[in-house]
Amino acid sequence: MKTFPANNIVGLPDTAVQEAKERVRSAIRNSGLTFPNRRITVNLAPADLRKEGPAYDLPIAIGIVLASEQVAADVSRTVFLGELSLDGKVRHTRGVLPMVALARERGIAGVYVPEADGGEAALINGVEILPVASLGQLAVHLQGLVRIQPLDRTGAPAPAAEAVWKGVDFCHVKGQEHVKRALEVAAAGGHNVLMTGPPGAGKTLLARALPSILPSLTLDEALEVTKIYSVSGLLPSDKPLITQRPFRAPHHTISHAGLVGGGRQPRPGEISLSHRGVLFLDELPEFGHSVLEVLRQPLEDRLVTVSRAQGNVTFPANFMRVSAMNPCPCGFRGDGTKECTCSDSTVSRYQRRISGPLLDRIDIFVEVPRVDFEKLADDAVGEPSEAVRGRVQAARGRQQERFVGTRFICNAEMTPLEVRQYCQMPLEDAAKSLLRLAMNQLALSARSFHRVLKLARTIADLSGAETIASPHLAEALQYRQRGQG
Ligand SMILES: Nc1ncnc2c1ncn2[C@@H]1O[C@H](COP(=O)(O)OP(=O)(O)OP(=O)(O)O)[C@@H](O)[C@H]1O
Ligand SMILES: [Mg+2]
Repeated sequence: MKTFPANNIVGLPDTAVQEAKERVRSAIRNSGLTFPNRRITVNLAPADLRKEGPAYDLPIAIGIVLASEQVAADVSRTVFLGELSLDGKVRHTRGVLPMVALARERGIAGVYVPEADGGEAALINGVEILPVASLGQLAVHLQGLVRIQPLDRTGAPAPAAEAVWKGVDFCHVKGQEHVKRALEVAAAGGHNVLMTGPPGAGKTLLARALPSILPSLTLDEALEVTKIYSVSGLLPSDKPLITQRPFRAPHHTISHAGLVGGGRQPRPGEISLSHRGVLFLDELPEFGHSVLEVLRQPLEDRLVTVSRAQGNVTFPANFMRVSAMNPCPCGFRGDGTKECTCSDSTVSRYQRRISGPLLDRIDIFVEVPRVDFEKLADDAVGEPSEAVRGRVQAARGRQQERFVGTRFICNAEMTPLEVRQYCQMPLEDAAKSLLRLAMNQLALSARSFHRVLKLARTIADLSGAETIASPHLAEALQYRQRGQG
């Protein structure tokens, strides 16, 4: 029996990297090259960092071809990445965008990427992108025989700001003017919202329309989002850049790893897939206590750290949280048209399923009543999202000026220190008395007090006012949870 010389990969490779041996051997043979008939050791340095996934196939193959002197080329400022198929083709590989971004940061001059991922890689400027169809083609290129043309960026995707929203528009939602207003305030200041109402009232519809009134993604934001989708393998190959704010609505049966991220080869969870967009938790009480608890830390830090034996991975998770629920298990409590069949104790048990600390972190409570027939049947078209987005964008602009030089983007992110500086100082006398009255009569907790002021700040920003006046404060007070401080 003929034995093949050993071919080893060392330096903490995972199984996908171990399997590279077979793919690389076969790909080299099927590309008109020779697989050296001697012992080969591939060392992936540094040895203490786990190497994962199939992106190492192409660099390993090129390393072998160069070391066996079948091709001579200077590859010192070059990065190769891509999975090989047995016949030597270079296949689509996940995570190309962040890898190319890192290569540029490290001063790499040129990156060879799978042809299928060329458009994605080309989003990163300042580094030459060479799309590779097969190992054979790359070898011929490195030999200087037939050159691969670097990607021409003139046909690159239009700037993110020009993207047109394709989902539900505010003008499709009939009535519910006060809910739309609450969502406008939420979008303007980055506040999170809980909508409560009977089945079919339009809660899901309204939540789906929310991204349409958020400011368009800037190119940098679009790249951040695209990196997350690239790592998750969710980037459509025909659409290398994500230009719309994400809207994610995970089902309440979702696992912790699915929600916050995890797995052996850690993938971003729903909270990272909603980065810069909207995370919609429909039927909030159905989400288990523990699922909601794991959200607490990322909600505060706006990023999530997934820890594993091999070290930690951090994903961004800066999203707007919108939740919805029925007022009771049957859904009709407080609805004029249909009798509620739930006992008081079932209702309070149902509402208690949402943990106190999480409820405590909701900024805007809004009731979504059933829309009556006249309104639904009315042909009149409401205000389009574009108009609302204009106001939201203007309010965000004012916040940006306020927070220049800080890490804050929105009013919702202010700590008590900023609340004092930006909300309590510019407070009209009449507003001050109203606040004092509300504090005494409604027994507001310190947290609610700050929340009301932050909301009032956003409402004032929406109307272009420097100082917070009574009407702003009065509206903010409306968004408190009924019956709570
Ligand atoms: N205000 C509205 N304007 C236009 N269509 C509406 C409105 N409200 C509800 N609808 C229609 O009714 C359907 C049900 O609405 P939706 O799914 O948003 O209700 P919901 O409040 O989420 O109900 P549930 O509590 O059962 O989840 C939607 O598909 C939508 O077309
Ligand atoms: Mg719904």
